[in-house]
Amino acid sequence: MSDQNRVIIFDTTLRDAEQTPGSSLTVREKMEIAHQLARLKVDVIEAGFPASSNEDFEAVRRIAHEIEGPTICGLARVVSRDIERAGESLQGASRPRIHTFVGTSDINIQNQLRKTRDEVLKMAVGAVQQAKSYCADVEFSPMDATRTDPDYLCEVVAATIEAGATTINIPDTVGYAVPEQLGELIRYLREHVPNINQAVISIHCHDDLGLAVANSLTALKYGARQAECTINGLGERAGNAALEEIVMAIKTRGEYFGLACGVETRELFPTSRLVSRLMRCVVPRNKAVVGANAFAHSSGIHQDGVLKQRSTFEIMSPEDVGVESTQIVLTARSGRHALRHRLEQLGHTLSKEEVDKAYERFLEVADKKTEIYDEDLLAIVGDEIRDVPEKYRLDYLHTISGTGTVPSATVRLMIDGQAVQQSAWGDGPVDAAYRAIDMATGTTSKVEEYTIRAVTSGSQAMGEVTVQVSEQGRTLTGRGASTDIIEASAKAYIDALNRLAVAAGIQRQHPQAV
Ligand code: KIV
Ligand code: ZN
Repeated sequence: MSDQNRVIIFDTTLRDAEQTPGSSLTVREKMEIAHQLARLKVDVIEAGFPASSNEDFEAVRRIAHEIEGPTICGLARVVSRDIERAGESLQGASRPRIHTFVGTSDINIQNQLRKTRDEVLKMAVGAVQQAKSYCADVEFSPMDATRTDPDYLCEVVAATIEAGATTINIPDTVGYAVPEQLGELIRYLREHVPNINQAVISIHCHDDLGLAVANSLTALKYGARQAECTINGLGERAGNAALEEIVMAIKTRGEYFGLACGVETRELFPTSRLVSRLMRCVVPRNKAVVGANAFAHSSGIHQDGVLKQRSTFEIMSPEDVGVESTQIVLTARSGRHALRHRLEQLGHTLSKEEVDKAYERFLEVADKKTEIYDEDLLAIVGDEIRDVPEKYRLDYLHTISGTGTVPSATVRLMIDGQAVQQSAWGDGPVDAAYRAIDMATGTTSKVEEYTIRAVTSGSQAMGEVTVQVSEQGRTLTGRGASTDIIEASAKAYIDALNRLAVAAGIQRQHPQAV
């Protein structure tokens, strides 16, 4: 495959997807994902928006220092201070890139920026020139490009290439584009921007109309050579184009696209599960490529066909995306070594203390449910290995519910090492437990979203709860898993409260210890 037909895979999970309310990551969690993205062999990791917070700056700085292989990119508005911060944070990177952007549609220019087209063009050129003083690799994005006047877009693109931009990204910021029209826009740029061959054309699509992947692939067909995407398609609103879908479409339909990329596809599934766990965002069962049902054949005709000849109903092999065809099942007799080994295969490299902690919980769960599948292991790791210190820990939970009874709950929490106990009633046992936790912690939070799912099939399955909680203007998501779904719900709520207290610095007054 010639270099001309190689697609650069630019992952923006740590920047665009991390902006999703409730999915914010700690620096350590970002490092874990960055290491996995390097194993996945993406070409570019957009590590964050350094000027947006000290935490983001620190995450980009550490990723730039530690991660070898991919180009490390930092985002910056066309503002001098942003570019300085991006430049500083990327100093340790072997391959740094600054990505600077400004809105170019009239809607953006008039309503948000309150400038003229000329002023915006000058700001873009100035920002690219300033970014060039930090690194040779500079990307420019005319934000809302798909709703920008095409001739003005060409003018901005030509001027920023002239100023030194080496990649021109075309963002479909609000997910407005449709495939053919976006393809034609790429063609228009290639035909009307005289210096377009001096830069790589990139595409960045959002999924508001469910077209992000189709739009990205069409742009590649029309000559774009970088695709910006996120793991599991996470991102603002309906999300970004899903990396795993773009990569597998290019690979599976190689004869149609005539393109290739360098992604190690067997790392797709482990990466998907790691991101799902750390961003506390469950992968839908029917999600293309990485969903639990993506390779499950349930109709009799399909099962029969696959058993006789896989290609009858399977266009990709599960092994190619890192899903093993034979499930490895662990039991209470499996040792620490087997657990560590399996977790490593699933993309989790844990310290000795973390393995000990996970093993203790593994034995507890194995006692209750006999056979432990990969999904159970991932739920256990998600539950036990938390990056946020446990200000609150569930010590005891007792609930009463049933037909004709008033549901009630008693909880005892360890708060900064001291026991606090409260009881409450509610609409159901989960509501009662949440009210008791509210009283014990003194939180004024509101539950915005509550989701529960069975991790595996069967009535012995572990239940996994994700709960989005807002308090004092901050929204974060917590996660908990257990074979007892009320306990899983309580753990998820406490996880969210810990994140709000520790990561977001929210202060609460709780009653005295008992
Ligand atoms: O969607 C968008 O326009 C962006 C830009 C910052 C590239 O994320
Ligand atoms: Zn975006």
